[in-house]
Amino acid sequence: MVAEILDGKQIASSIENEIIEETKELIEKYGVTPGLAVILVGSDPGSQVYVNIKKKTSSRLSFHFEDYLFPDTAKEEEIIELIQRLNKDDKIHGILVQLPLPKHLDENRILSAISPEKDVDGLHPLNMGKLLLKQEGFIPNTPAGILEMLKRSNIEVRGKDVVIVNRSKIVGRPLMALLINNDATVTVCHTKTKDIKLHMSRADILVAAVGIPNFVTADMVKEGAIVIDVGINRVEGKLCGDVDFENVRKKASYITPVPGGVGPLTAIMLMRNVLLAAKLSLKK
Ligand code: GUN
Repeated sequence: MVAEILDGKQIASSIENEIIEETKELIEKYGVTPGLAVILVGSDPGSQVYVNIKKKTSSRLSFHFEDYLFPDTAKEEEIIELIQRLNKDDKIHGILVQLPLPKHLDENRILSAISPEKDVDGLHPLNMGKLLLKQEGFIPNTPAGILEMLKRSNIEVRGKDVVIVNRSKIVGRPLMALLINNDATVTVCHTKTKDIKLHMSRADILVAAVGIPNFVTADMVKEGAIVIDVGINRVEGKLCGDVDFENVRKKASYITPVPGGVGPLTAIMLMRNVLLAAKLSLKK
């Protein structure tokens, strides 16, 4: 078997066109332009790249965009003060604090300061709790992007055994909840899992977000499995994921490439949340 490649760029591009259409309507009918504010603390090169992608995507969609850059030495209070100001700003419908934050800052306190109605990253405890309870709320972008990619590729998750190798608040935990809500059977593996290979080899859908190149090799993958690679690693200046793509491809039924897989979907799902936040602001 040679896996079909799930083209994240193409799927993201059709979602982008849908957002452009809906944004036009929102502007024409209500005079509301979706607005996103991104807060970046410190000089992590990866984070700078991600913020630039958000800026460019906002510009393509004609969203209003503001970025706020703080030095590594920034104080928690000044960031919280900015968030409180943005919470009240009618031009801004979505607020995102780029992670990771420098060690001296309390990430939970900062994320909790964002108004849940503007929490387009879905990382506020209220939205995370709603996801767990299967209530409407903002869903974190990477999990939302993964599910959207599967849905648009006509891959059913109901009844499937999904194995996620990650337990972070950005990927593993919300993806677990989202998949349970969509009737999958979910196993979450992490650094203390006893026999990770055994779990992985039983997966109908395997999601890897480990941060180690070639972590997933063909011998760990079930024949015909769907392999979703969330890793972003740099090897000799080139981007690669967590999956030994060429060999795993020969065994899987579907596989996502890196780059061009989950990444573009994550970026566009954020914008869809900003549009949703702008629409919901009309109902207040
Ligand atoms: N850093 C890496 N991924 C993410 C994400 O989804 N949200 C935020 N805020 N920071 C990130």
